Amino acid sequence: MTDLSIRPATACDVALLSALQAECFQPGGGAESVAGSQEGPQEAGHVGEAWSLRSWAEVLAMPGSFALLAARPGKADNAEDEPLGFFLAQVLFADGELLSFGVVPACRRCGYGRWLLAEGLAAAQRQGAERVQLEVAENNRRAQNFYISAGFSLIGRRPGYYRLRDGRAMDALILRKSLT
Ligand SMILES: CC(C)(COP(=O)(O)OP(=O)(O)OC[C@H]1O[C@@H](n2cnc3c(N)ncnc32)[C@H](O)[C@@H]1OP(=O)(O)O)[C@@H](O)C(=O)NCCC(=O)NCCS
Repeated sequence: MTDLSIRPATACDVALLSALQAECFQPGGGAESVAGSQEGPQEAGHVGEAWSLRSWAEVLAMPGSFALLAARPGKADNAEDEPLGFFLAQVLFADGELLSFGVVPACRRCGYGRWLLAEGLAAAQRQGAERVQLEVAENNRRAQNFYISAGFSLIGRRPGYYRLRDGRAMDALILRKSLT
């Protein structure tokens, strides 16, 4: 994937991370009806709701957490790179957890997600993770297909883990991938 650049995100990137998350999980084009994002730290959230800048700053400051940003070159000559996706995980000892992940709607089904996930998992492994776990909303078939195709397996379910905008609860499926 020669046109994709991936770099670690820093605390200076919280606005970009939050904007990308909002775009990835926007109603309709994103994931509200078919996908789920986790609640931001310290604040209630809904499926499809992006975290605040404060939440992003808190998450990036947690022990073992790291984020990656993916971009491709802008179309015009000398144009700035176009951010297209993000990966956020936390590694504590041998356990990695994928906390949030997305590719903007306009750039999907081009292999960028697979590439960014592989880079994120490799980074988690370098930090000592032997396995990575994540939660995905049970109606988010797209993401489930994506993760299963990347070698994740279903290991459990968290009843009522997500809250929809209309107040209904939705289960999360727990997926795990061994990195060893
Ligand atoms: C899930 C997501 C990250 C996939 O990103 P992507 O860049 O489109 O994925 P890729 O193009 O790398 O696809 C890799 C594989 O995943 C599977 N896949 C991806 N999108 C799919 C879809 N809409 N339907 C079925 N399978 C899909 C396919 O097996 C695909 O391989 P193929 O294209 O060779 O068939 C993206 O759709 C997204 O950001 N969704 C909204 C946010 C979200 O749900 N995040 C995860 C929450 S836990």
